Amino acid sequence: GTDEHRPPVRIERDGVVATVVIDRPKALNALSPDVLGAIADAFDALRSEADAVRGVIVVGEGGRAFVAGADIRSLSTLTPDEGAEAARLGHRVAAAIEAFPAPVIACVDGFALGGGLELALACDLIYATESSWFGQPEVRLGLIPGFGGTVRLPRAVGLSLAKELIFTGRRIDAATAESAGLVARRFGDRDALLAGARATIDEVAANAWTAVALAKRVLVDAAGTPTAAATEFEVAGFADAFRTDDMREGVAAFIEKREPEFSGR
Ligand code: HXC
Repeated sequence: GTDEHRPPVRIERDGVVATVVIDRPKALNALSPDVLGAIADAFDALRSEADAVRGVIVVGEGGRAFVAGADIRSLSTLTPDEGAEAARLGHRVAAAIEAFPAPVIACVDGFALGGGLELALACDLIYATESSWFGQPEVRLGLIPGFGGTVRLPRAVGLSLAKELIFTGRRIDAATAESAGLVARRFGDRDALLAGARATIDEVAANAWTAVALAKRVLVDAAGTPTAAATEFEVAGFADAFRTDDMREGVAAFIEKREPEFSGR
């Protein structure tokens, strides 16, 4: 049908918000190598218009799944070396998201399993509908997480719960994920989810763009870095803020008791 002929990933633009839609609903948006390549391409394409994009939403089509994992069929025949390549492709996508200057919000509506949860974890924050499920079921297949789950899930929820989830393959619901700190906010339905993400990006866009981009860079670099080195990343980013017009404007506006007018430079 037409489903196989449309691209598996598309970008929608609405003002300062770009939405990356993973559109492979018949396979619950499973991440084949093609889909992963298309997600990386989407972020590369958005980088070239990064000036106009103040936030990105990543969402799955179809209403049943964000992403139900790596594509199990394309993993089934791999050699160990090809398995390593498959994992590296996932890490390249995560790196493209982390290097993207604007905040990226994973909007989860349905299953976020395996590589799907790992994709969400590579985003800056996760919003979810009540009817969402999260898990790393790889051990049920004889696999382990391969797109960063052993690295980013413990950072998100702590080592103890991360190990419980990875060892059992168990799924947790959105309320549990929110109380664990995995999900930043929960919404009643998909429309509210997307509206909530847009509202957050609009709020971010009112701030000094240079400062938001610097904060993201430092947060990404500092994650998992020992404290002394991580605080040096912060020092460098803080110093970079003093190179910007936005910083001078923001501080002057405060002192002059007026609203700032940020230029994004
Ligand atoms: C390929 C998948 C898929 C996947 C679902 N489908 N998940 N295809 N890879 N990860 C396909 C099914 O084969 C099926 O296709 C269709 O989507 C609908 O799925 P059903 O199983 O029929 O739906 P349901 O019974 O509602 O169950 C939903 C589900 C289940 C619980 C999410 O699909 C499921 O357990 N999926 C696999 C989840 C998983 O193990 N993910 C981790 C993958 S490993 P047909 O053609 O039959 O209609 C991984 C490793 C990452 O992510 C690192 C790699 C380097």
